[in-house]
Amino acid sequence: MTHYIPGFGNHVSTEAVPGALPVGRNSPQRPAFGLYAEQLSGTAFTAPRHENRRSWLYRMRPTAEHPAYVRYTGAARFAPGTSDAALAPNRLRWDPVADSAPGTDLIDGMTTMLANRHPADLEGVAIHLYAANRDMESRVFMNADGELLFVPQDGRLELLTELGRMAVAPGQIALVPRGVRFRAVLPDGAARGYSLENHGALFRLPDLGPIGANGLANPRDFETPVAWYEDRDAPTEVIQKFMGSLWTTTLDHSPLDVVAWHGNLAPWRYDLARFNTINTVSFDHPDPSIFTVLTSPSDVPGRANADFVVFPPRWMVAEDTFRPPWFHRNVMSEAMGLITGAYDAKAEGFAPGGLSLHNLMAGHGPDLASWQGASAAELKPHRIAGTMAFMLESCWPYRPTSYAIEHGQPDYDAVWADFPKARLP
Ligand SMILES: [Fe+2]
Repeated sequence: MTHYIPGFGNHVSTEAVPGALPVGRNSPQRPAFGLYAEQLSGTAFTAPRHENRRSWLYRMRPTAEHPAYVRYTGAARFAPGTSDAALAPNRLRWDPVADSAPGTDLIDGMTTMLANRHPADLEGVAIHLYAANRDMESRVFMNADGELLFVPQDGRLELLTELGRMAVAPGQIALVPRGVRFRAVLPDGAARGYSLENHGALFRLPDLGPIGANGLANPRDFETPVAWYEDRDAPTEVIQKFMGSLWTTTLDHSPLDVVAWHGNLAPWRYDLARFNTINTVSFDHPDPSIFTVLTSPSDVPGRANADFVVFPPRWMVAEDTFRPPWFHRNVMSEAMGLITGAYDAKAEGFAPGGLSLHNLMAGHGPDLASWQGASAAELKPHRIAGTMAFMLESCWPYRPTSYAIEHGQPDYDAVWADFPKARLP
């Protein structure tokens, strides 16, 4: 049984052993039980108070005690770097990745598809697909390059992190902060999904403007796990992603040994079914930003480093309106995934677990079949059910990896072929 504390960005205090958490100070001369106090900073020390995120960890051994890292070569398609070739402006789409070989855990089962900045820029995002069929047993992963947002598509994940354990099923999402070590076990024996990596400003809930004080993703629905630890003196490999490369070292103990912690930098999970979907009750429909779950701002006001947006089940009631997403060209770049069902702008070819890319200024919109259907539909209230697509929209154009370039669907452009010409009077 895993316990969670509700709320987004709260200052949490939690201890797995009574008395482990110091009271009234962060770094006592002698922490209880000989624990080591260690600060984990997710923002600069001097970040404004409303953006400042850090936690204090009380652990059995300090993180500083570790041998040197050497390059890790076991995950051939994870973090390979992007191609430096000229970036074609083409629209791209991918089927789900093939099953991994037996014995592949979450880390070795990662395939990096898209990235748009170097991690050292402290901006941009990357999109990885995972297909795993084995628990991480005597090893953990740590990403120094950014926070990781997991979007399971098939099969549950249990994420055992330094700050607590989270169970995450398809339809839920979970975030592991930058630098937090974790291992993933697979309660269903196999798991597939998306891992969205954010190098930039930490994901936060968007401002709501005229929507008011409530709506979209409500803060109380985010759940942070309580403190949990394992006391295991056995060799444990630590795989680290640092500046776009993978590194490995081995400890003589599990580093998941944080007995108590407090602070506001923490893992969380969120059930997308709790998203309060808001849209038109008259005509047209708002820009897809109305579906924003989380945003990572850039230095330009209103221009996101990344917005995580979902297209959930909802009622369509707009009058005299072409109801699916319209044709458009966007200064922002759009990568999309599908968790379940079908996406209302694409009749076929976009499978759960797949991915699509419409980069800056690429013309896109409904495919021919979706356009024909929606243009002829009787506009009675209609519920879109059994679907959940998402978009990671970024101000930085995405670069596909070499693997992604080689494995794209061969003729995605054809979904927009053969539209009839308008008939002028
Ligand atoms: Fe779009």
